[in-house]
This record gives sequence, structure tokens and C-alpha cells, in this order.
Amino acid sequence: MIKLSIHDKGGAVGLEELSAQIKQNAGALKIVQTGEARYTDTLGWKDVTEWANPEAIDSLLQKAEEVRRNADVFVLVGVGGSNQAARAVMKAIPDTDGPEIVYMGNTISPYDVARILDHIRGKSIYINVIMKNFETLEPGISFRILRTYLEETYGEAASERIIATGTPGSKLHQMATENGYTFLSFPENIGARFSTMSSVGLFPPAVAGIDIRSLVLGALDMQKQLQTSPPEENLALRYACIRNLLHQRGYTLEMLTYFEPRLRYFSKWWMQLFAESEGKDGKGLFPVSSECTEDLHWVGQFIQCGSPLLFETFLSVEDPEEEVHINPSRLDDGFAYLDSKGFSTLNRAAERATFSAHNERLPCMKLSIPKISPYYLGQLFYFFQYSCYISATILGVNPFDQPGVEAYKMAMFQSLGK
Ligand code: PA5
Repeated sequence: MIKLSIHDKGGAVGLEELSAQIKQNAGALKIVQTGEARYTDTLGWKDVTEWANPEAIDSLLQKAEEVRRNADVFVLVGVGGSNQAARAVMKAIPDTDGPEIVYMGNTISPYDVARILDHIRGKSIYINVIMKNFETLEPGISFRILRTYLEETYGEAASERIIATGTPGSKLHQMATENGYTFLSFPENIGARFSTMSSVGLFPPAVAGIDIRSLVLGALDMQKQLQTSPPEENLALRYACIRNLLHQRGYTLEMLTYFEPRLRYFSKWWMQLFAESEGKDGKGLFPVSSECTEDLHWVGQFIQCGSPLLFETFLSVEDPEEEVHINPSRLDDGFAYLDSKGFSTLNRAAERATFSAHNERLPCMKLSIPKISPYYLGQLFYFFQYSCYISATILGVNPFDQPGVEAYKMAMFQSLGK
């Protein structure tokens, strides 16, 4: 299971104070465990089995198998909450036997779009377009370009290569029905950034060959734990209380720090989840991330000597799953002290040193998982979604809307003459 600890040499969060905070917010946990009537339309993620039950998974796996048999390249078209979770899983677990995965719909840079189209030309292509509202410009226009390419290349058979994930009754649903695309439901009662355990977050990893049953089991085990743990033992409440306490102390940023670059896109999902859910009414911690050891070469400077804006949450992985040994060199390069060590020792030493150095100046939490596997990613997804709901409840904001994101879309639509 996930482990969480708080270390705070500066004393911004004392253990007694944290325990008082947990008692004080026991009501917030109760609310989340029960689920509020005002959010019924957006709580479809809370019971994992509502959308990720065995029948639903079997049907996703069946379609995924067909794609895996026939595709050289699988293009995932989507943006924001609609592709972040699937991409996070596929980037974290890249060693699979599935087709090459290509991402579109998350950029409108003509340079990038041109490169992708060049890259996929001549290959056997399948696409999964994921759009909850079927209005967002980036995935909408990428879908048009790909669809046209497929129609030119495969004629009527193009429709067999298109999997559309959208809201039942939407324009996308209508297009799928009229043109014979496979249609997967984007659950109406789940906001995009909470859609990890539905066809949105599960189908693309299934195509990649990732064990989605295990992903779902991880989330389900975490659900059982968080739904039944009392306040003083509840990991999500503890995490939510620490971050809110630190926010009250004047910290304005939470940095997710990781030492496995495979977690880069997981950190993007995490940033989206908290920024879009909590950044409201002039409140909320701004989530940022740092990929180590690379980012230490600049971030360390700010942390040790800059404005005291942030606290850190280390996402630590116990088993790196690989080892690369360092053999002695015949040249005196000054690195003989590393002879016969392995990179896992180096990475672990860097993580410990960073934690200890940063913790001299700022509060640090450590969240560890045994390894990067579908099961533990499932646990992390559910843990953060649940924590986010509790944290937003403590903060007093609605975690499930995104008026700010809508505002930019409206302004862009206007400028383009929609
Ligand atoms: O999480 C969200 O709500 C957003 O990031 C959306 O996922 C994003 O804007 C894409 O929306 P849609 O799937 O409707 O195209």
C-alpha cells in the first residue's frame, strides 16, 4: 500500500497540531465518505465498479485486442482531463508489446501536427478520439484531420479504425452512430480529470497491453481503505489536512518531486487534478512538479535561498526494477568513489540527500509506492482523487467545476469566429 509521512524540521506542522486538524476535519471526511447530494452528477468515480466493473473491462479488452492485432500505430486524440490519465499510465509503463502510441489533440502547433502526420503516414493506424463535450478545438480539429486521412487511405473501412469516446447523446455519439465508429461512453457523471477508472482512462492502456484489471484493482483496494478508515488512520484526510494547514501557514505552492522520469506524465495528471479542482474563489495551492535529478540543478537554488513559497511532496518509488552497474575505469576521471556501485544506489542517495537538504528549509512529505506498476498507479489515482475531494471540501470550493478553463475556450472561440 501507499505510505505517507510528514517531515518538518522547521515546525510549520507539529504532530499535535496535525492531530487537532484531523479531528477538526473529521466532518469533511464523513461528507466525502457519504458523498454529497449536490455533487451526485459528478461522483460517478467514487465507486470504482460503477464504470470499471468486470463486464465493462471485458468489453474494453475485447476491442483493444482487435486494435492490438491490426495497428502499427494507435493515436490517442484528447486533451486535459480527457487524455492525461491514459497518457500517464502508458508513459509510466512503456515496456509493452502493443502498437506504437502517438498523441494528438493536445497541441495546435503546426510544426508538431505536421511532424505527427509525416510520422504516421503509410502505417496501419487506429485512433481513439476522447472528447466529453465535443467542442474543444484542439482534439476536435485533430480528429477531423485524422478522420479525413483514414477515409482517403482506407475508404469505407476507415470507420472500423475509429473509436470515439464521448458523452451519450453528443454530436460525437451521433457521428459514431451514423458512420459506424465504435462508441465508448464517457460517463456523464464523471468530470474528465476524475475519469481514470472508466473507458476514458482504461481503453488506451488496454491497447498498449497494460494490465488494466490490475490498475482497477489498485483503485478498488484504495477505495475500500479510504471509505472505511476512521479519521485518525485515513491517509487521504491526513494528506488533505497537511496541505491545507501549510496553505494557512502562507505556503502557496505544492511541488511533487520524483526521481523516476517515467512519472513525468503522472505528475502532469496530478497538477491538472489539483489546479483545476482547487484553484477557485481566489484560493488553492498551485501544484508544480520537479523531475529529479535534472531539475535539482536549478530548483535546489530557489528552495535553499529563494522566497519560501512552497512545500514538497516526494513521490518515492521503492523498487527501481532495473540496475546498471558502474565498472572501474582505466582512466583517472575523479569518479573512482563510485566504482562497483549501481545507479539505483546513486538515485536513492540523491533522493535522500535532496529530502534532507530541502527539509532544512521547508516542510516535506513523502509518499511512497513499492514500484511503478498498474496496481500502484491505480492506488495513486484513487488516493489523489479522493484526497482532492476532501481537500477542496476543507478549502470550501467546488472540486468538480472549471469555470476558468471554460473562459479561455469562450474567448478563443470568439476570436476564431465561432
Ligand atoms: O478536466 C477537464 O475538465 C478539462 O481538462 C477537459 O478534459 C478538457 O478541456 C477537454 O475537454 P473535452 O473532453 O470536453 O474535449
